[in-house]
Amino acid sequence: MFMKGKRVVVLTGAGVSAESGIRTFRDNDGLWEDYSIEDVATPQAWQANPGRVWEFYQARRRQLHEVEPNPAHTALAALEEGLDDLTLITQNVDNLHERGGSRQVVHMHGQLETLRCENSGRHEVRMNDADLIDEFLVCTCCAEPQRVRPDIVWFGEMPMHMEEIYTAVEACEVFIVAGSSGHVYPAANLVNIAHANGARTVLVNAEPPQNFESFDEVHLGKAGELLPVLVKEWLSSDA
Ligand code: OAD
Repeated sequence: MFMKGKRVVVLTGAGVSAESGIRTFRDNDGLWEDYSIEDVATPQAWQANPGRVWEFYQARRRQLHEVEPNPAHTALAALEEGLDDLTLITQNVDNLHERGGSRQVVHMHGQLETLRCENSGRHEVRMNDADLIDEFLVCTCCAEPQRVRPDIVWFGEMPMHMEEIYTAVEACEVFIVAGSSGHVYPAANLVNIAHANGARTVLVNAEPPQNFESFDEVHLGKAGELLPVLVKEWLSSDA
């Protein structure tokens, strides 16, 4: 399908970063096999055992220095470059879309690079070596420095930028999902909103996801192999 001139929204999930060596959550070797969501990804876990939660995210923050974007990230950056109206929404908390060349990325589940002051709510990029230790860190914004928390949306918390996301999804003509299992809401419902508003819905994923029925067009396989070919097609007037 030729996408030039169309309003396009892309939603990505952990599958897009899998080929960079970042574990997904729900595949066989996924992160939720080794950790329970209740222990590391809820506000209650942060209350009950902040050390465990902090160490889990510090390890993931350190990993950002060891991984590189893959062809899925660079293909999506090329799609943004080739279109006038593309919104890239990601559930991923890594920085690989940005490092792959994407200029505008809406991180609905937060970001590993930034840490948030529990007192003021202010967040800032903290990726120096001294920021990646297992001991707790404090903010740089309060008169009496306060503990910072991972700048991540935990289960039970409201995803970020939802107004901007709904506006883009309701108005889009093409909605593409890449590398997401469709288990986590409200992200998993965005395809239905797009569909109900008349958008063509396209899936690029290793396996059929939970919300498989909601897609008009399905490409099963690795995002790093499929997306470079598909993006060329989508930007070519011969398609
Ligand atoms: P999941 O781990 O639930 O799903 C990853 C999907 O990617 C699966 O459907 C895989 O089949 C697919 N996949 C794996 N490798 C792939 C590859 N190389 N190419 C294409 N697809 C591939 O990850 P998400 O759907 O992103 O939330 O999970 C959503 C949210 O659940 C995450 O943002 C995280 C998690 O709990 C928070 O931490 C708030």
